[in-house]
Amino acid sequence: MKGFLLTYEGFDPATEGLREALTSTGNGYLCTRGAAEWEDADRVHYPGTYVHGAYNRETTILGGLPVLNEDLVNLPNWLVLKLRIEGEAAIRLADVELLSYRHEYDIRHPTLVRELRFRDHAGRETTLRSRRFVSMADVHHAGLEWTLTPENWSGRVEIVSALDGRVTNRGVARYQQLEGRHLDPVSPRTFGSEVIALKVQTRQSNLYVSEAARNRVFDHTGALMEVQRDLYQMEDYIQQALGFDVHQGSPVRLEKMVTFFTSRDPAASDTLERAGTSALRYVGFAEALQRHVSAWDELWRNCDIHVPNDDRVQLLLRTHISHVTQVCSHHTADLDTGVPARGLNGEAYRGHVFWDELYVYPFLNLRTPEVTRSLLMYRYRRLGEAQAMAKDAGYRGAMFPWQSGSDGREETQRLHLNPLSGRWEEDLSHNQRHVNAAIFYNIWNYVQATRDLAFLSDYGAEMMLEIARFWASIAHFNPERSRYEIHGVMGPDEFHEKYPGASEGGLNNNAYTNVMVAWLCQVAQDVLALLPSSRVEALRRRLNLQDEELDRWDDMSRRMFVPFHGDGVISQFEGWESLEELDWDAYRAKYGNIQRLDRILRAEGDDPNRYQLAKQADAVMLFFLFSPDQLARIFDRLGYELGPDTARKTIEYYDQRTSHGSTLSFVTYAGVLAAYDPASSWERFLVALESDVSDIQGGTTQEGIHMGVMSGTLDLVQRSYAGTHIQGDVLSFRPRLPPQLQRLRFAMQFRGTPIQVEFSDSSLTVSAHPEGASRPIKVGVGEELHELCPGDACRFALDQEHDLVRG
Ligand code: BGC
Repeated sequence: MKGFLLTYEGFDPATEGLREALTSTGNGYLCTRGAAEWEDADRVHYPGTYVHGAYNRETTILGGLPVLNEDLVNLPNWLVLKLRIEGEAAIRLADVELLSYRHEYDIRHPTLVRELRFRDHAGRETTLRSRRFVSMADVHHAGLEWTLTPENWSGRVEIVSALDGRVTNRGVARYQQLEGRHLDPVSPRTFGSEVIALKVQTRQSNLYVSEAARNRVFDHTGALMEVQRDLYQMEDYIQQALGFDVHQGSPVRLEKMVTFFTSRDPAASDTLERAGTSALRYVGFAEALQRHVSAWDELWRNCDIHVPNDDRVQLLLRTHISHVTQVCSHHTADLDTGVPARGLNGEAYRGHVFWDELYVYPFLNLRTPEVTRSLLMYRYRRLGEAQAMAKDAGYRGAMFPWQSGSDGREETQRLHLNPLSGRWEEDLSHNQRHVNAAIFYNIWNYVQATRDLAFLSDYGAEMMLEIARFWASIAHFNPERSRYEIHGVMGPDEFHEKYPGASEGGLNNNAYTNVMVAWLCQVAQDVLALLPSSRVEALRRRLNLQDEELDRWDDMSRRMFVPFHGDGVISQFEGWESLEELDWDAYRAKYGNIQRLDRILRAEGDDPNRYQLAKQADAVMLFFLFSPDQLARIFDRLGYELGPDTARKTIEYYDQRTSHGSTLSFVTYAGVLAAYDPASSWERFLVALESDVSDIQGGTTQEGIHMGVMSGTLDLVQRSYAGTHIQGDVLSFRPRLPPQLQRLRFAMQFRGTPIQVEFSDSSLTVSAHPEGASRPIKVGVGEELHELCPGDACRFALDQEHDLVRG
């Protein structure tokens, strides 16, 4: 493990799926799992290629019931390279003796390398080095290179290079019973003697996808070799077998340069033609790789987090930066997509977009805000669907779905398989309406970080007003309490879907939801105040937004109901305190890992709804999303007293009752504990950091990385530890650096001005980039403020007091 390398020595079938997910290579448009080129999908290997937004909907008949699912489609496998020696069967790992094997992922310039030496059944020893990248420089390009050295033999080999459209979505064991065929063949084609190409179509969404590959072989001097080329094609598969002689000790190099287009891409007519032509014009591997490397060097200048005192933390943070960027890069800014919760690295959650964006945007907002803007536009384009959903459910405004895919309708499944019991269980998680508060919060925070009032005016405000309107219509006034209440929804804790024994889903007065609603009802008014009056008028006319509605929002911001219990702990929802306590020790002793207590309890015939237990941070989210000052203001306005101990007590109370069945929970707890229990915060931070690379949930990461957690750890460094926050026009720091981060450097940009932030020797130095169109910005620590012009730097001495500033 070095600062930029993730290395696996030896082949291990049990963890190959995990390695594939973690060594995926992508560029924010396309991403391919780190599967070996010579292996087809089976229980060990799973080649998967995904493009943002390429969804397809299929129906499965399950026990006589039609079940509709939309999936992010596994696209034709462009990796295929198979080695045949002397006309024998293609080499597979399972059939040879591995003399050495290394699988390495270069985080800095995302490149996957596999280097192996093997002895086959005839005693021939061969070295194979494979390198691949998906270009960050040229969005439709990827490259694969094989260097083959016969160590103790000479003879004839054939390398089969193929594009395989016969793939299905089969990456998640729990979904095996569901329809996984999403592609129909269109046609294979060749372009000249070197290029093979394949076009397929998604079965329901009618999306065309084409790939082309140019195959060339070079001898040890680098000269292009004349090889025999045998073509074989079917409607959904095309291959070229390249035959040539190899000589003992003399390396031969094969380049497979791949291009990739879909009918969602701009500047393309027929995708097949476009892919083929692009492959014909494509430069060689070395030059293409160099372009990719330069593009990443530039990205790192804007995105790196440098932690010189802790190698492991350094490696994991960079791994996260690299993966987050491979799913959401500047190329993503051109696309119509949200953030799939599990990246483009696997098929869990079918590529759907959840509230996890809440954890992703803080990192992007301060580095690549144009990407957040585009991801928010994904929501705007689906505003009509959200309005229709609200209407169908009897509400007003816009109700965005809990899980979103192609067109913005609700994609949450109504049944899901409990792998512990093998039973299909009812899934009520679509009642998580809090996703609407998250979208509102995301828009507002994007605007705070960028001051992009054009976006707010043209798109953001409309979504925010429609979301506020939705909440006003789902809430009702309870005259007995003289407060507004929201019934029938779920908070982020998915273990509580309804009251024990209830027939209807949802709970009353989820505190997180209610407080978010109080907050957003107030901000909705601030939004109007930010816009020119002509725009406000036009918007109000367009939405038919009446004064009475605004008055009601104002009233809701003062009178939402928030449940408390015990001695001042915020109740997750009304009635929480009458649920039973669980015997946590007994369950730990019986099952070991009890993160997924819901599955355990249900498999036992019990019901998680009965107990005081939480899958993940729920009420505690409030302390994560708002600073103590902000929260105090929200509660004050509501007429509730937020005692000096409310946060600590509430956090401690739920900490003891949370199983962290979602790894997002570790991020949240690390964040909220930073102020109250730094050692414990750091412990959670490390768990979140390790969660994908060490697969702490035992098998989930192979189905896709966790975008929220990966980005969340990066945000923890900038927000919870460096204490970055925006106050009006000022980028402020409230550092609470753990010992391991006493030296810390990272890049960010604030309102268009790129800056470097460096903590060392008890001081903070902020420097503004000298070039470009940067504008002066204000930065501060505590009361101390500086204006920074491009090229300026300022230094803040961090005394004890600064280190301890809270709130
Ligand atoms: C979590 C949700 C999350 C989803 C997708 C679930 O396990 O409980 O909060 O949105 O995963 O990451």
